[in-house]
Amino acid sequence: MKAVSVFPGTQTLKIVEHEDPHITQPDQVKLRLLDVGICGTDREICSFEYGTPPEGDDYLVIGHEALAQVEEVGSAVELLKPGDLVVPTVRRPCHHPGCLACRLDHQDFCYTGDFTERGIKEAHGYMTEFVVDHERYMKLVPPDLKEIAVLVEPLTIAEKAMAQVFWLMQHRPPWIDPEVPSSERGYGLNALVLGVGPVGLLGTMVLVSAGFKTYVYSRELPPNPRIDLVSSIGATYLSTQTSNIEQLRDHIGNIDLVYEAVGHSHFALEVLMVLGINGIFVLTGVPGLQAFIEADPARLMREMVLKNQVLLGTVNAGPESFASAIRDLDFLIQRWPNAVRTLIAGRYPPEQAFELILGRPTGIKSVISFGEARM
Ligand code: BGC
Ligand code: ZN
Repeated sequence: MKAVSVFPGTQTLKIVEHEDPHITQPDQVKLRLLDVGICGTDREICSFEYGTPPEGDDYLVIGHEALAQVEEVGSAVELLKPGDLVVPTVRRPCHHPGCLACRLDHQDFCYTGDFTERGIKEAHGYMTEFVVDHERYMKLVPPDLKEIAVLVEPLTIAEKAMAQVFWLMQHRPPWIDPEVPSSERGYGLNALVLGVGPVGLLGTMVLVSAGFKTYVYSRELPPNPRIDLVSSIGATYLSTQTSNIEQLRDHIGNIDLVYEAVGHSHFALEVLMVLGINGIFVLTGVPGLQAFIEADPARLMREMVLKNQVLLGTVNAGPESFASAIRDLDFLIQRWPNAVRTLIAGRYPPEQAFELILGRPTGIKSVISFGEARM
């Protein structure tokens, strides 16, 4: 079967003939891939800045944002059956008995760094026709989400971040009452999203749905479909080209929450300087190699201390975030059907994967399609 792969050793990109996987353990399932999303991580892997093949292989099959259909199940599989739609999670635990995070099924918080990530780090990914994996790493998706379920994985980034933010916001200002309905948790609070990529736009949807007055700050100028999308869901767009950082603060008032989804160090630091009193700044972007910048750490530290601020980095996502992403996606598509659908730029055959990954983005999220679900 064909598999979209990178060879880091020789710096080549190739669609290889990869061996068809078989179920070898009773709790495994065999999946037929339907949709695989492309993201910035894939771009870095295909530029040979990131990504490691499994031990003993000279190539890595890429792809980590997937929707698949169960093809076959092992004899000990309990919940899944052939025909079910699933989103597979990305990270697999390390094997150190002392890693509390991995032993608690929270490999997204792995202490040792010896985790693997399918399509990214020492494990083959999903940009291929079939994969085999353990049932416990699969999340069942309702069939009516099949057109958009490839967005579940990028949505888990916001879900994991917001779970932590809401926990914090219950235990420190603004002391949100845990009983408050999830759609009202952000009432009276200002959130600022940095970036209009898929992670930023999905984060914006989550914040607006939670009741935050939500602003989005990025380079793009109108007319731009991403800006239209931001406006269509009730958030306010501000361009870095027309509002500088000071104007941003004056416009918004106290910036209670920043959700960074760009991975650009200078930009993030500048905005950190205007984070509000008791503000929380969430970093989700993974910066590649960037030029050194000048900073004023003493001023930054003074601001952070005197303003009770939190700087929170977050990567990957655990099982609860996948479950809540599936629930929220259902809610988002009902609330904003057009906006959610326009996040998916188009579906393309695997042969076009490399040009889509390395070329200029044509739309918000490009998806490699391996076929239709058999319902
Ligand atoms: C993926 C995460 C992964 C991270 C770092 C992201 O693109 O969505 O699952 O942990 O890259 O490798
Ligand atoms: Zn990704």
